[in-house]
Amino acid sequence: MQHEAKDFSALLGTLKGISDKQLTAHFGLYKGYVTKLNEIEGRLATAEPGASNYSYGEFSELKRREAVAFNGAYLHQLYFENLSARGGMPSEKLQTAIRETFGDMDRCVADLKGSAASTPGWVHLTRSRVDGRLHTYIMYEHHVGLPAFQDILLALDCWEHAFMIDYGTAKADYLKAFLDNVDWNAVNARFDAALAGRNTAF
Ligand SMILES: [Fe+2]
Repeated sequence: MQHEAKDFSALLGTLKGISDKQLTAHFGLYKGYVTKLNEIEGRLATAEPGASNYSYGEFSELKRREAVAFNGAYLHQLYFENLSARGGMPSEKLQTAIRETFGDMDRCVADLKGSAASTPGWVHLTRSRVDGRLHTYIMYEHHVGLPAFQDILLALDCWEHAFMIDYGTAKADYLKAFLDNVDWNAVNARFDAALAGRNTAF
C-alpha cells in the first residue's frame, strides 16, 4: 500500500508550550519518514532476496531500514494524534488501570519522566496483551526497544528534534509542555480499542 502522511496542521496555533516553528519542523521530519517508507517498500518489491548478505546487500540494507521508516512514520502519527489543546482526563477505566500498575497518576507521570530521561528516543505507555496491564517502554531507535504484544496508548517523542527549537537541551521543560498537551480523549479511545482488541492504527 501507499502510505500517506496525515495533515496535522490543525495543531498549529493551539498547543501550550510547543511552538508552530517546532511543530512545522517536526511535521517535515514525519513526512520524510513516510516518503522513505514508500521508497523502501517500492524497492523491496524488486530487490533480489537471493543476493542478501549480512555485510552488505541491497535487499539486506532495505530490510534493515524498513522498520525504521515504518515506525518513524506511524509512531509520529500516534504522537501527533495524542496532542491537543483540549486536554481532558484519563477515563475511569484508564484511571483504574493506571492505579493497578503505578499506584497513582503522580507515579505514572514520574515514570514517564524517568523513562524520558533514560532514552534519546521514544517513550510509550502501552497496554500489554500478555498480562493486560499498563507498561512504559523506551526505544533507543524507531525500531529498537518495543516488546511484542503491546498496544501503544500514549506516544511521547523524546528525540531532540521534538524540542530543540523551543527548549534547547531543557528536556524536562519539554516534558512538562508535552504533558500539558496530552489529548486524553485520544488515549482513552486507544485504551478502549485495546481492551476490545481493535486495531487503532487508522
Ligand atoms: Fe519526532
